[in-house]
Amino acid sequence: MQKQVDYKDAIKTKYPEQVVIAIAKDRSGKANPVTLGWTMIVSAEPPMMAIAVAKTHYSVETITHSECFTIAFPSAEMEKAALFFGSKTGRETDKFAEFKCETQPAKEIDSVLLADAVANFECVLESQVPAGDHMVFVGRVVCSHANQERKKRLYTVGPGHKMGSFS
Ligand SMILES: Cc1cc2nc3c(=O)[nH]c(=O)nc-3n(C[C@H](O)[C@H](O)[C@H](O)COP(=O)(O)O)c2cc1C
Repeated sequence: MQKQVDYKDAIKTKYPEQVVIAIAKDRSGKANPVTLGWTMIVSAEPPMMAIAVAKTHYSVETITHSECFTIAFPSAEMEKAALFFGSKTGRETDKFAEFKCETQPAKEIDSVLLADAVANFECVLESQVPAGDHMVFVGRVVCSHANQERKKRLYTVGPGHKMGSFS
């Protein structure tokens, strides 16, 4: 049986939530990673993925400028990187210079991949839709990469960015 409650109470039941790290270059060529929980696959053929980025975030500028972005699935051991990339803004910080995280060049787009991620998807910006206080970016996947080591994915498992993984 259901009881009407506030949105903020009902939405607390959403965990676990997947986490991705999206990366796009800014005008100066600096690659800016951002941690995102609001993401989904939106098309199978052609493969497409969507991310929701707060309109105030620097990543809106980097993605709009470069018209492409990487979506990386961070591995369980990347918790500290995910929290760092999700707490600093690229407007004031060179996140890759301040937090050691191995990257590889992307093959089809002007961005980078995260070497220790479970998988990386190179996306070309297909469309963008304003949605309240966020901007939804839809990317067409033009190249995919999977880690050759078996790794677990990172999730948010509870409020306050409590991170974890599952076997
Ligand atoms: C686990 C986690 C999930 C997050 N999910 C989102 C999200 O879905 N959308 C969003 O706009 N910000 C999200 N954030 C916050 C951004 O990552 C954070 O504000 C970041 O510093 C913005 O960086 P930028 O200004 O370089 O774009 C999340 C942060 C964490 C730690």
